[in-house]
Amino acid sequence: MNTQRNTGRDGVVRFYDTHPINEDEILAKLAARGTNLDSLTQDELKDFDQDHYGGVQVVDALAQKAGIRREHHVLDVCSGMGGPARWIAHRIGCRVTGLDLTQSRVEAARRLTGRVGLEALVDFVQGDATAMPLPDAAFDVVMSQEAFLHIPDKAAVVGECARVVKPGGTIAFTDVVVRVALTAAEEQRMAAEMHAPGLATAAQYAGLLEEKGCRVEARDDMAEPWKGILLDRLAMYRSLRDTTVAKFGEARFLQYDSLYDFFVGLFTAGKLGGVRIVARRGR
Ligand SMILES: C[S@@+](CC[C@H](N)C(=O)[O-])C[C@H]1O[C@@H](n2cnc3c(N)ncnc32)[C@H](O)[C@@H]1O
Repeated sequence: MNTQRNTGRDGVVRFYDTHPINEDEILAKLAARGTNLDSLTQDELKDFDQDHYGGVQVVDALAQKAGIRREHHVLDVCSGMGGPARWIAHRIGCRVTGLDLTQSRVEAARRLTGRVGLEALVDFVQGDATAMPLPDAAFDVVMSQEAFLHIPDKAAVVGECARVVKPGGTIAFTDVVVRVALTAAEEQRMAAEMHAPGLATAAQYAGLLEEKGCRVEARDDMAEPWKGILLDRLAMYRSLRDTTVAKFGEARFLQYDSLYDFFVGLFTAGKLGGVRIVARRGR
């Protein structure tokens, strides 16, 4: 494998281009359940299109904490296949724009959104969260779930969130954080294989938000609820063995399986955890 292409932004894109959770897998699962794909609804899709820890319940909790209302325009940073963006638009009726680096994720997000008829409320932009192709002060709420871990320059992504949210608007996100310092070998594997370089602590995120002129209103520790969710996800990825091998080959399945086992081990050992932060930009 070309190591140049497997590092930095290229590495992240490659990681998500060959991810076990993907559009084909979602549609196959829905078909296996007997869902008519020609009349798919977001209520049916919601069980498969969320790529974070906790499904739509945690999207609802984040939306509630962020105070998202029907008249808001929300930005979902690192929106993946658009599961949270569609769910929020479907539940609340607000406009949502998703931004993601990985073109295949953006295209899948657009197709899935078209299938469930939400394209009037939900749109997607391809771009880097550290240099968003979006205007200043454009959004009432900026949200994100389990994605900033992939971005080495945390100050840049927090700064961009603070730039595009309106004065007085809300930034709300969840992410993986360090609780106990990793060994050099653990850090190296997280960076090289999980594409998670330079993981932050919850306090570092709070400090960056304050530096960017935002007041942190809530900081919730997600370590305990995430442990069980991550063990379930490991079992779910293992249950996808056949489809992952058929689509990406056995080597990719085995590599991802070993990597995810290592990642979950860092949570069960208490070294990694999660945080949910809600902050308000000053006026
Ligand atoms: C774990 S997925 C989360 C997707 C979505 N938030 C969800 O909950 O379903 C992480 C996403 O972050 C995106 N990503 C990683 N680095 C990025 C960057 N620098 N700018 C924008 N998106 C990025 C990846 O392409 C991927 O789709």
